[in-house]
Amino acid sequence: MNHSSERIYLYPVWIRIWHMTNALLCLVLIITGLSIQFSNPGTVVKFNAAVTLHNIAGILLTLSYTGFFLGNLFTPNGAYYVIPVKGFFIRLTKQFLYYTIGIFKKEHAPFPINEESKFNPLQQVTYVVLMYGFVPFVILSGWGLLYPEITVNSFFGFSGLDLTDLLHIGSGFAISIIMCVHIYFCTIGKTPTSNFKSMINGYHESH
Ligand code: HEM
Repeated sequence: MNHSSERIYLYPVWIRIWHMTNALLCLVLIITGLSIQFSNPGTVVKFNAAVTLHNIAGILLTLSYTGFFLGNLFTPNGAYYVIPVKGFFIRLTKQFLYYTIGIFKKEHAPFPINEESKFNPLQQVTYVVLMYGFVPFVILSGWGLLYPEITVNSFFGFSGLDLTDLLHIGSGFAISIIMCVHIYFCTIGKTPTSNFKSMINGYHESH
């Protein structure tokens, strides 16, 4: 068995800058978002300040997301987000079985990380759903709430604004949960901190 560690450059500078900005903005949005939702005189951030901060962070997130979207459109990084259809469920099941059983038996990862495949199948699906589903959705619904005049008035008899609000809170909640799971999974690297270091220096360390 080969125990020598390998370092591969996987995270270009723009991804690292985008990711750091995105993570910070998401944290601010989650804290201020919860403060707005559960507002009472004792919340972490006062209501008016929370609304202002939430709006500013939301506008900045729109800009940083545009950067991510264009970066993935015009650089090779976008290729990691294209899911091959053939054998999709088999690959997902293999990865799932590894995370639930194999990893505890110290088996080798079924999809080792390299330049051709930066993400394992579960990671890839999560990142695609997150970055091309929930994140654009939370941004668009956020703009709909910021400018209610552009939001549909009613949808099958329901208030358009209430529905937009529900979708905004729902997708924000989904992103928060995914972020917690994401951070947990990032600790399953060569060492508990090695994946976090990768996002700072750009190099992934494998066993
Ligand atoms: C404090 C919060 C966060 C921490 C500590 C963190 C940590 C990390 C680390 C260590 C990686 C590299 C390892 C890997 O690919 O799994 C990574 C990648 C990634 N993270 Fe996060 N993350 C955070 C928040 C977020 C949020 C809020 C999002 C999206 C809404 C996000 C989306 C991504 C994506 C899409 C990648 C892959 C980027 C690429 O290489 O193309 N992360 N994160």
